[in-house]
Amino acid sequence: MLAPPVAENRVTPTLGWPRNAEVDPRIGWPTVPRETLDWPKASSAGVVPASPSDTAATAPTIEIPPGPRRARFDEDEFGSPPVEEDPPADLLTAERVTTASLLAPPLPRIFVVANQKGGVGKTTTSVNLAAALALGGLSVLLVDLDPQGNATTALGVDHPPGTPGTYEVLMAGAALSDHVVDSPEAPNLKVLPATIDLAGAEIELVSIVARENRLKRALRAYLQDHHADYVFLDCPPSLGLLTLNALVAANEILVPIQCEYYALEGVTQLMRTIDLVKGELNDELQLSIVLLTMFDARTKLAAQVADEVRRHFPAATLPTVIPRSVRISEAPSYGQTVLTYQPSSAGAISYLEAAQEIARRGVEEIA
Ligand SMILES: Nc1ncnc2c1ncn2[C@@H]1O[C@H](COP(=O)(O)OP(=O)(O)O)[C@@H](O)[C@H]1O
Ligand SMILES: [Mg+2]
Repeated sequence: MLAPPVAENRVTPTLGWPRNAEVDPRIGWPTVPRETLDWPKASSAGVVPASPSDTAATAPTIEIPPGPRRARFDEDEFGSPPVEEDPPADLLTAERVTTASLLAPPLPRIFVVANQKGGVGKTTTSVNLAAALALGGLSVLLVDLDPQGNATTALGVDHPPGTPGTYEVLMAGAALSDHVVDSPEAPNLKVLPATIDLAGAEIELVSIVARENRLKRALRAYLQDHHADYVFLDCPPSLGLLTLNALVAANEILVPIQCEYYALEGVTQLMRTIDLVKGELNDELQLSIVLLTMFDARTKLAAQVADEVRRHFPAATLPTVIPRSVRISEAPSYGQTVLTYQPSSAGAISYLEAAQEIARRGVEEIA
């Protein structure tokens, strides 16, 4: 019988570290001062020492600077400390939203949340705005168009493969009302779940008649006898047929833009696609909201990106920016939005403010 493979611990000592870093050969890490007083003596207990002289050497006394130890540890290990939850005051308007009672728009507002870049905050923005508006007393429907089903998860809805949802509506012509489920996150918040089955729809739709109108028809039929003030269509990170269905079904576009390098890369292409869709398939469509996400107040770059985006989209860009926040990224793993997971966090407050501004514009500018 073959012996099981032995895991080799092959550490390339300098891999990934600056060339001049001195690397401790026992662990493959640079010999930077650690905060643990008894290191390396204690940690060498389970490690074969590199040379006998190492064991003989007494552990150096390391001064522990005062301050939050965990934060320093994160900084040392990963080069990127967690962002503190309190952004500078000028980022958030002084008046904080607590119990919001938002006004309903005259007609349902259907937002396609689009940006073909992945990881810019489409899903996070969809679920948190949907929850914020629903918690503010409005009826909200979220249609999950991403086969990953992250929005479905974040709204606390289980979606094992085979769960009926967006796939059935698009491919089998099922009624939305048959598969829409209540989210436990807020009263009047409903979600049309997505499962991995939806991955096939992108290809299967190609051969279907009126393939780009499937969602529009289903949604219009649903809205005829079900009330919704806001509908969010959370798109996958591509400009394929799923996103096209959403662009045709929607009347407004919300583009989340991450405050990072290349933020505007791809936005030009998105604008071209929007123009095409407007011209050919949906003349109602308008880019109405740009939301800056993952804003890191400590970097100059984030502020520069924010300025540039505001120059490009002066009217559409919301004054509220969404800070990079650990709470926002943790919430989905509990099947929650940040609004219920950590309602007092800066992330929750910023999404509440963004929702409040969107609702205000929906009443004042559209009415
Ligand atoms: N404001 C934020 N602060 C910290 N992490 C965030 C923030 N917004 C999104 N994220 C995280 O970034 C990742 C990508 O976000 P997501 O909303 O899934 O992007 P997309 O839907 O555009 O692919 C997720 O892990 C999410 O938790
Ligand atoms: Mg997503």
